[in-house]
Amino acid sequence: MTDHSLPLLSPEEEAMLAGECGPGVQRAMEIVVALGRIYRAHRLLPVTSVQVAGVSYRNLGEAGLEFLSEWAAQGARVRVPTTLNPAGMDLSAWRELGFAPSFADRQLAVIATFSKLGVRTTCTCTPYLVGNVPGSGEHVAWAESSAVAYANAVLGARTNREGGPSALAAAITGRTPAYGLHLDENRRATLRVLVRCPVRTLSDFGALGYLVGKRARNGVPCFLGLEGASDAALKALGAAMAASGAVALYHVIGVTPESDRPDLLSPDCEPFVVDELSSAYAALNADAREIDLVWFGCPHADLEEIREIAHSIGGRRLRSKLWVTVAREVRELAAKEGLAEALESAGGRLVSDMCVAIAPVKELGLRTLATPSAKGAVYASSHAGLKVRYGSVEQCVEAAVAGRWPG
Ligand code: F3S
Repeated sequence: MTDHSLPLLSPEEEAMLAGECGPGVQRAMEIVVALGRIYRAHRLLPVTSVQVAGVSYRNLGEAGLEFLSEWAAQGARVRVPTTLNPAGMDLSAWRELGFAPSFADRQLAVIATFSKLGVRTTCTCTPYLVGNVPGSGEHVAWAESSAVAYANAVLGARTNREGGPSALAAAITGRTPAYGLHLDENRRATLRVLVRCPVRTLSDFGALGYLVGKRARNGVPCFLGLEGASDAALKALGAAMAASGAVALYHVIGVTPESDRPDLLSPDCEPFVVDELSSAYAALNADAREIDLVWFGCPHADLEEIREIAHSIGGRRLRSKLWVTVAREVRELAAKEGLAEALESAGGRLVSDMCVAIAPVKELGLRTLATPSAKGAVYASSHAGLKVRYGSVEQCVEAAVAGRWPG
């Protein structure tokens, strides 16, 4: 039953709720308090940063844009550093990529509205690559599922998996209710995963995450047997578990910051043994032969990943489209290193600000896609309706060179 006396509010929070800071802030505080009541939070916590999702006009539509515009017109402004998830197109190169002016016009209106709200329009799902890097133990309110997993597991920050409006409400009030993964007791492992097969490539980590996410659902997996996993591997692992399940935190013994807490395993923690990854590869592969688009950068790629892709292409000409989705700032760094030029001379490109899974890609004539990202494979199939091939970076590069899936 909902306890209407909770959460207890400070005088400043009471003032926000009473409308003393304006109707926009009042509306935001109403959302935060309502969530606090639903989850029986005893108090609100100050947050140090927010990542807002729900940016593509394809998903928001006119109703979502109106909702945001009305909030901005009520005077709402974010009060903590707030970054933004990808949109449905590259904000500058949309015309060259073939997006319709009618879509671009509305997408740009969405971005302008977020900007009016004070949000940094970074348009990336890797805010931690563009300066939004919370420290261990910091409370934040992030909405992008892959970034939530990264923040909780790799950075040791604390966030629930927020929705679009709840993240924005947290940004406007600077508060989030103290429940879920903000509390110590909910950060203990519920699934003890023993990995007994080789996990070498990024797509292997994605395949492992796909299997574990399905089993763990919204629980907290703890991995044994992944010592030495790189940050890029953890990024792929967490994104996959967030897509096939709703995992928002995981631990890797000997790697992630909270994996050495003495009470790591919850009393009802279940065992799960992974002996093979082939079932994940089978589940993530459709029977597509010709490949229209090869997609890297889900989550958005870092410089090291771009270098690896350029190296694999090795100056060959590509028959399929090849996009590497990245944050704008990362694209600029890649351009300085000559990586953008290397990709473009092969026929590929660095695409910033966007996510293929939430873009109107069918309108661009795309039907089939290859990717080494398990999250990308799940969403490109379920959200964008594409036929997907899933494999290693090398296999995906070979697909782009040949225009068809190898083998
Ligand atoms: Fe990012 Fe889209 Fe993948 S938001 S994590 S590129 S599905």
